[in-house]
Amino acid sequence: MNQERGNKTAEPSLEIGLLGMKMRTPIIMASGTFGYAFEIARVAEFDFSQIGAVVLKSVTLEPRQGNPPPRVAETPSGMLNSIGLQNPGVDYVIRRYLGMLKNFDTNFIAGIAGDAIREYVECAGKLAAHGDIRAIEVNMSCPNVKDGRRFASDSGAAAELIGAVKKGCRKPVIAKLAPGTGDIQEIARACIDAGADALSVSNTYVGMVIDTHRRRPLLGNDAGGLSGPAIRPLAVHNVHLVYQAAARRDVPVIGCGGIMTGDDAAQMMIAGASAVQVGTAVFTNVHIAADIAAGLGRYLIAQKEKEVSAITGTLQLNRA
Ligand SMILES: Cc1cc2nc3c(=O)[nH]c(=O)nc-3n(C[C@H](O)[C@H](O)[C@H](O)COP(=O)(O)O)c2cc1C
Repeated sequence: MNQERGNKTAEPSLEIGLLGMKMRTPIIMASGTFGYAFEIARVAEFDFSQIGAVVLKSVTLEPRQGNPPPRVAETPSGMLNSIGLQNPGVDYVIRRYLGMLKNFDTNFIAGIAGDAIREYVECAGKLAAHGDIRAIEVNMSCPNVKDGRRFASDSGAAAELIGAVKKGCRKPVIAKLAPGTGDIQEIARACIDAGADALSVSNTYVGMVIDTHRRRPLLGNDAGGLSGPAIRPLAVHNVHLVYQAAARRDVPVIGCGGIMTGDDAAQMMIAGASAVQVGTAVFTNVHIAADIAAGLGRYLIAQKEKEVSAITGTLQLNRA
C-alpha cells in the first residue's frame, strides 16, 4: 500500500511489527475460524497478502472428538458455538498439517489448549520447535482439571500456566484472555508478570440459546461461546481496560471480537490494540480480511495518518 500515487500523496502503510513478525496488515485470522489454513486455501483462492498472520485452530496434546451436536446456533448479530476443541492432537497436526504452511505467504501462530498445565507445556514445546510457527497463543478459556475453574478466571492459575508455557518454549507467548472473569486487568497483569509477550483480548462470551418447544438448550453441550458483532462493544471495552494495564509494560494487545469492517478494526486499535483478530466474520465472507484491510486504509487516509500503528491507543475519553 505504500506506492506513490498520481497525486503524489503516499498511501498509508498498514504494515506493523509484532513479536518479531513483519506483518503486511494488522489483521490476523482468529483461532478456530480458519482451521489449519490449508482447508481455506483449498476451497478459495485466498489472498494471504492482505493478512498479517493466522492463528491456527487450538491443538491439544491428545486428539479430541469435541462436543455432541448441535454445535452452533445463530443468535442476533452473532453465533453461539460449542465445538469443544475438536482436533486430531498435536503430533498429527505437526506430522500432517504444518508442512503445508510453507505454501502460504504469511506468519503462523499456533493455538494451544489443554486441561492441565503439563499438557499445554508439552504442546507448546512441540509446536514451537517447528520453523514455520512464529509464536504460541495460549487459549486460557479451558477448565483446569485440578479444580474445574477456567485458567483465565483466576490470576494465580493464569500466571502459573503462562509462566510454565513461557519456560518450556523459545517462541513468543501470547496469553488469550477470556471475558467474564471479574477483573480482567488483574488477570492481564498476572499474565504479564508471568512473562506473556502479548495479550489477545479476547475469546468468546459464555451464552445459551433455549429451544422453547422442548424447553432444552439448543446446543448439545447446553452452553457455548458467543461471538460476532454482538460482542464487539464488550470486546472494545475490554481492550481499552487491558491496554491500560499492558501499555505501561510495553506489552502489545491484540483485539478480537466482532470485527467485520475497517472501522471496527480502527475502533479496536484506537482502544489500544496493536493488531486485530477476525473470526466469525469469515463465515459470512471468506475474503472479508481484504475488505477490512481496504476499509482500514480508507480510514487512515481520511484521518491523514501515514502509519496504521499511529492510531493504537489514541482514545481520548470524554470523562478524562
Ligand atoms: C466456530 C468457532 C471456533 C472457535 N475455536 C477456537 C479455538 O479453537 N481456539 C480459540 O482460542 N478460540 C476459538 N474461537 C474463538 C475465536 O478465535 C475468537 O476469539 C472469538 O470468536 C471472537 O472473535 P469473533 O467475534 O471475531 O469471532 C472459536 C470461535 C468460533 C466462532
